[in-house]
Amino acid sequence: MPSTSIRLGVVGTGYVGLTTGACFAHLGHHVVCGDIDEHKIEQLNSGHLPIVEDGLEQIVVDARQLGRLEFVLGAAGAAADADIVFLCVPTPQSEDGSADLSYIEAAARSIAPVLKPGAVVVNKSTVPVGSTLVVEAVLQRDDVHVVSNPEFLREGTAVRDFLLPDRVVIGSADRAAAERVGELYANIDTPVLITDPASAETIKYAANGFLAMKISFVNAVAAMCEAVGADVAAVVDGIGSDKRIGRQFLSPGPGWGGSCFPKDSRALVKIAEEHGYNFSMMKGVVEVNDEQRMRMVDKVARAVGRHHSNLSGVTVGAMGLTFKAGTDDLRESPAIAIIDELRRAGATVRAFDPTTCGELTSHRAAALAGVELVDELIEVADDADVICVFTEWPEFTKVDLDDVAERARPGTTIVDMRNMFDPSDVKDAGLGYDGVGRR
Ligand code: UDX
Repeated sequence: MPSTSIRLGVVGTGYVGLTTGACFAHLGHHVVCGDIDEHKIEQLNSGHLPIVEDGLEQIVVDARQLGRLEFVLGAAGAAADADIVFLCVPTPQSEDGSADLSYIEAAARSIAPVLKPGAVVVNKSTVPVGSTLVVEAVLQRDDVHVVSNPEFLREGTAVRDFLLPDRVVIGSADRAAAERVGELYANIDTPVLITDPASAETIKYAANGFLAMKISFVNAVAAMCEAVGADVAAVVDGIGSDKRIGRQFLSPGPGWGGSCFPKDSRALVKIAEEHGYNFSMMKGVVEVNDEQRMRMVDKVARAVGRHHSNLSGVTVGAMGLTFKAGTDDLRESPAIAIIDELRRAGATVRAFDPTTCGELTSHRAAALAGVELVDELIEVADDADVICVFTEWPEFTKVDLDDVAERARPGTTIVDMRNMFDPSDVKDAGLGYDGVGRR
């Protein structure tokens, strides 16, 4: 338990809000989470989590049993008794690539009249530089400070990332308000960096932009490896062991996706543009990522001896649909983008993902419209002309490759977009193999 238990409100129960609320409750604070989605609140109050997130369910259950975590309908109910209120609502991408602040503004409007005197409001959502001032303007409360405290949570490891962070960043024009927020993390052994709001907001975009850049870089290097006959794994080992470069976020793949990198990279370009800077490097990072998806489509077409514009009559088996392993999130999944392209060219797609068995929500069903979903991984091989590995679910490598070869059409190739399989095992089973940047 912290020396002083602070009452917190969390607005928004998406993966950031729910993780933030549950982890702060786990650290000993009293937390009330509010959401405008009645169904979600009912679900949470009956003990069901609306998302798949490793370790989250347990800390939610424990915190509720201890009476430290509550879920209420609406933002005002979460904020009314709170000393500190976290805004964790979505900032989706607008048509022009900028971040849409309407949810943040709406949340600020609903909490403004109920905030306790002297409360602190914290922006945890990823917001454009200057949004702290936007929230202040909406709140119109001279007694309330608005602070930026960006999250660096990866889906699938969000609880671990929250409780064992590399750093906590707090941006505030008021030192005392920043320190009050910093105290919430007192039980976590991590550096707390206090800076101004614009720098804190920029840190979040720059961190995601840099990580996306690493991945685009390695994907470009993988393309080069294919051209010159080098092996990307050896190249990554060689460069990654230089401590200045580091090994993390250098796994080649079908391109980065998910709820953050695509939207934040485009927002970074847009924010720079609005402030008169042409962030050409970031534009290149996005462009390489778009190209990577098309390169994967070309690999599939090559595997069946066709041009990517004509895949009629081709059956594609898809291993994995989520944007990465360890999450059920399909948002901006490269698998979905590549499958859409394959289907547009006339291919039929049969897919398995560990998270799409059973009933699908309408949002997920819409994302997967036209894709035949099967209940067992092996079924994607049935009559397949080509098999794509989209997501790096570890269990995929346990598939019986002889069985795959038997069920698939003769000459089938595995296009391994995550470099998961040992190419010689695949070839020994009588299948063709193509990875990303592998010799
Ligand atoms: C990311 C950031 O890591 C996190 O700090 C931020 O706050 C939210 O966005 P997340 O979207 O959960 O987290 O996914 P992450 O694990 O970062 O992966 C993003 C994408 O990059 C995925 O599509 C993943 O498959 C891809 N990736 C990642 C690679 O292709 N290669 C890598 O080496 C690492």
